[in-house]
Amino acid sequence: MASTSPRDPEPLQRALLAWYDRHRRILPWRALPGQRADPYHVWLSEIMLQQTSVVAVAPYFRDFLTHWPDVFGLAAAPLDDVLHAWQGLGYYARARNLHACARALVERHGGVFPDDIASLRVLPGIGEYTAGAIAAIAFDRKATAVDGNVERVVARLDAVMTPLPEAKPALRRIAAGLVPDRRAGDFAQAMMDLGATVCTPRKPNCVLCPWREPCAARARGIAEQLPGRAAKKTKPTRRGIAFWTLRRDGTVLLRRRPESGLLGGMIEVPSTAWREEGWTLPAALGEAPVAARWRTLPGLVRHSFTHFDLELTVLTAQTAAAAEGIWAPLDRLGDHALPNLMKKVVEHALRHSGPEEAAPAV
Ligand code: ADE
Repeated sequence: MASTSPRDPEPLQRALLAWYDRHRRILPWRALPGQRADPYHVWLSEIMLQQTSVVAVAPYFRDFLTHWPDVFGLAAAPLDDVLHAWQGLGYYARARNLHACARALVERHGGVFPDDIASLRVLPGIGEYTAGAIAAIAFDRKATAVDGNVERVVARLDAVMTPLPEAKPALRRIAAGLVPDRRAGDFAQAMMDLGATVCTPRKPNCVLCPWREPCAARARGIAEQLPGRAAKKTKPTRRGIAFWTLRRDGTVLLRRRPESGLLGGMIEVPSTAWREEGWTLPAALGEAPVAARWRTLPGLVRHSFTHFDLELTVLTAQTAAAAEGIWAPLDRLGDHALPNLMKKVVEHALRHSGPEEAAPAV
C-alpha cells in the first residue's frame, strides 16, 4: 500500500546512488561518471528505447550518430533517409516525429535543446516520459522519467496492490517523491538500471538490491507478483488482402500509404483495408490495383500490432496495365523503407510465387 505519511527519501536516494556508482551499465548514449550527457544523445536514445530493448537500440543509435552527429544534420536529412535508417526498429511514427522534432529544434530553438519540461513537452514526439528523461539526464533537472521498469520498482518498494494501469498516477507520485535535489539525472538512470538488472519482472534479485531493507513487497514476499495488471482484453484479428503485382520488366508495384494512420507515409505492397470481418474474393478484387488474373498464394502473413493482430492473404498477378505507384525492381526492394510487416509480405511473395510469375506476360 502507498504510505500516507511523508517519508524521508534521503536514505533511499543515498543507497540507490551508491549502488549506481558501483553497478551502472555502460551504454553508448550514457555520459561517463561525473560528466553531463549530450542532450541530443539523450533524446535520440530515449525515442529509440520506447518499446525497444537496450540491446536492439545500441547499433541503431551508433548508426544514427555516424550519419547525423548532431541535431542540425538530422534536421537537414531527407525524411526518407531517416525512415530508412530506422528500418527494423518499428513504430515508424517515432521516426517521423524524431525528424519533425529535429526540425522544430533548429527552427524554434536554434538547435539548442530547451532544459525545462514545459518547452520540451510541446516538441513533436516528446511526451511526459521523454521530457522528464531529457530534463533529468541531460540537465540534472529534478524530474522523473517513469517507464514500465520504474513503475515496477516503486510498486514493489511501497507494495502498491492496485493493478496497472489504474495505479499509474499513484506510482508516478511515489517516483516523484523520491527524486533528490542533486544528481537527479543519475537517480533517473539508476532507477532504470535497477528495474532492468535487479528488480526484474520475474525472479527479482532482491539480495543484490540496494532497497532490499525498505522494500515493502520483499518484506511480505510478494515482490514477484507486483505490479498487478488488470486482465488484458484479447486482441482482435483483422484481415486483409495484399496484391503482389508483377510486370514483365522484373518490377513489382509498391505505393506510399496515406500520411495519417498506421504506418503513415510508409511504403507498402498495395492492400485492401484491414478489417475484422475479412474479405470475400470478389470484394477484395474490387480493391485490386489492376484488373488481372489473380492467384492466391498459399499461407498467410501474420503480424502483431499493439491493438490488433493482422492476417494478410497475398494474391499475385502479372500485368502489363498501367497502375499508379512505384514500380520497384525486385532486386532493389532494399532501397525502400519497408516496415517489418511489408518485409514479411515481400518474403512470403518471393517464397511462394512460382516461375509463372517471373515469366513474361502474354
Ligand atoms: N531505458 C529507457 N531509457 C533508458 C536509459 N536512458 N538508460 C537505460 N535504459 C533505458
